[in-house]
Amino acid sequence: MKDVLAELERRRDQARGGGGERRVGAQHAKGKLTARERIDLLLDADSFEEFDMFVAHRAVDFGMADERPAGDGVVTGWGTINGRLVYVFSQDFTVFGGSLSETHAQKICKIQDMALQNGAPVIGLNDSGGARIQEGVASLAGYAEVFQRNVDASGVVPQISVIMGPCAGGAVYSPAMTDFIFMVDGTSYMFVTGPDVVKTVTNEVVTAEELGGAATHTRRSGVADGAFANDVEALAEIRRLFDFLPLNNRDGVPTRPFFDDPDRVEPALDTLIPGNPNQPYDIKELIRRLADEGDFYEIKPDFAGNMVTGFLRLEGRTVGVVANQPMVLAGVLDIDSSRKGARFVRFCDAFDIPILTLVDVPGFLPGTAQEYGGVISHGAKLLFAYGQATVPKVTVITRKAYGGAYDVMSSKHLKGDFNYAWASAEIAVMGAKGAVEILYRGEAGDPDKIAARTREYEDRFANPFVAAEKGFVDEVILPRNTRRRVARAFASLRRKRQDRPWRKHDTMPL
Ligand code: HXC
Repeated sequence: MKDVLAELERRRDQARGGGGERRVGAQHAKGKLTARERIDLLLDADSFEEFDMFVAHRAVDFGMADERPAGDGVVTGWGTINGRLVYVFSQDFTVFGGSLSETHAQKICKIQDMALQNGAPVIGLNDSGGARIQEGVASLAGYAEVFQRNVDASGVVPQISVIMGPCAGGAVYSPAMTDFIFMVDGTSYMFVTGPDVVKTVTNEVVTAEELGGAATHTRRSGVADGAFANDVEALAEIRRLFDFLPLNNRDGVPTRPFFDDPDRVEPALDTLIPGNPNQPYDIKELIRRLADEGDFYEIKPDFAGNMVTGFLRLEGRTVGVVANQPMVLAGVLDIDSSRKGARFVRFCDAFDIPILTLVDVPGFLPGTAQEYGGVISHGAKLLFAYGQATVPKVTVITRKAYGGAYDVMSSKHLKGDFNYAWASAEIAVMGAKGAVEILYRGEAGDPDKIAARTREYEDRFANPFVAAEKGFVDEVILPRNTRRRVARAFASLRRKRQDRPWRKHDTMPL
C-alpha cells in the first residue's frame, strides 16, 4: 500500500510540475503566472478539486509517443469563489505551449458538461499556442466540440474568458462565444490571423500587440470587456465580477448583506445637472451615489464611452445599469454604444438581472460613417434587446431624451416597468434649436425671432410634464430621492412575470 501511495504522490508532483522548471522560469520571466498559480489566486483557498490530472495525449506522430506529460497542457476542475461553485480550466503554456490536442479538448468539454449539468459558471484561463500542430484535424475537432458546448451553455450558465497569453486563429472563437472576455496588458493577444499572415495577404505591417493586444480589443474592436495590469490584478477582479453574477439562468441574482440604507438621501444630486443644457456632467457620479456602498463594476469601460454599462447592488441584490454618458460625445447613441448596450441588456435578461437605465441622450449620431457602418441595424439591436427583455426594468430620465433615442432607452413603450424623470428632464422629438430651424425656416434671417421661437419651444417641450401628462413617465421625482425610488421599484418587481409568445427564436437584427 505504501508503495502505491508513494507512486501517487510521485505522479502528482510530476503533473504539478507542468513543463518543467526551465519552462516555468520562462513563463515567470514574461511576467506570467503558471496555470496552477492562476487557479490558486482565482479560487478560494484549498477549494480546488482537480479532474483528469493524469490524462495524456494519444498522438504518435512526430515523436509524440515518447513525450506524454500528465495533464496534457490544461488544468481543469472546480472550486468556489467566496463560497459559490465555479468550474475552471487553465491552459498550461509550459506544456506544448498550452496547445489544444484531442485530449486537452476532452478535459475542457468535461468541465463544460459538468457546469451545465450542475448550473454553475465556467471560467476559462486562456494561454495557448492554438491547435496542437502534431495532431492536425483531431485538434480542430476538439475545438469544435468546445465551441458547441459554448453555444449550448450560452444563456444557461455565465461563461467568462480571461486571455492571459496567446489566443490566435480559430481558437479565438471559444472566448468570443462566452459572455465576458478580459485580457492582461502586455502579455495577451487575440487575433484570427497573426502579423505574418496579415503582411502576406494585405501587405500591412503590424505588431502582435497592435493587431490584437489588450488596448486594441478594449478600445477599438470592443471584443474584450476589460484589461488588467497583470495576472494577479486580473484574477482578483474576476473574483469581484463573479460576486455580482447569478450561478445560472434559474437561480436569480445573488443576495448579500448590505450596510447601506436603501432610503439614503443624496442632496448633491439636486445640483448634478448643470444650468447650461449643453454642459456635460459625469453620469458615473450618479451611478456611484445610487449603488450600495458606491460599488460599481464597469463592463467595457474603455469602449464606446458615451454608453456606460456595469453592475451595482441595491439592497444587496445585483442590478445591471445602462446609462448614457454626457461626458463623451454628449451621450449620443452610435454604432459602438448601441452594440455595447445591446449585448449587456441581453446578458442581463438571459440571467434574470434587473436593468436600471439612466437616460440623457440627445439622439443618434449623424454622419456618413454611421450610416455606411449600418447604424440602422446596430441601433435596432439595442431597441430589440430592450423590447425583448422581460426582467424588471426601471428607467430614470435625468435630462435629455430626444427622438428615437428616447424610445430606445427602455421607454414606457418598450414595457418599462417604472419610468421616472427628474424635473430637469427634456423629453421631446428633438432639441429646441433644431426644431425651430425646421419649423421656422422662413424666419432664419431674423435672430431675434428665432431666439423667441426657441424659447417658446423650450417652454413647451423641454420638460418632463408633457410626457408625464400622457402617462409615458410614471412620476417626476426629486434627484435626491432617486436611490430610494429605484430600490423600492425593484423591490416591488421581484415577482414580475412576463410571458412572450412561443417561437423557436427571434430574428433579432444581429
Ligand atoms: C504544439 C506548440 C504550439 C502548437 C507552441 N508550441 N505552439 N506545440 N502546437 N500550436 C510549443 C513550442 O514548440 C515550444 O515548445 C513551446 O510551445 C513554447 O513555444 P515558443 O514558440 O518557444 O514560445 P513563444 O516564443 O512565447 O511563442 C509563442 C507562440 C508560438 C507565438 C504561440 O509558439 C507560435 O507561433 N506557435 C504556433 C502558433 C500556431 O500557428 N498555432 C496553430 C494555429 S492554427 P518547447 O518544447 O520548445 O518548449 C489554429 C487553428 C485553430 O490554432 C482552429 C480552431 C477552429
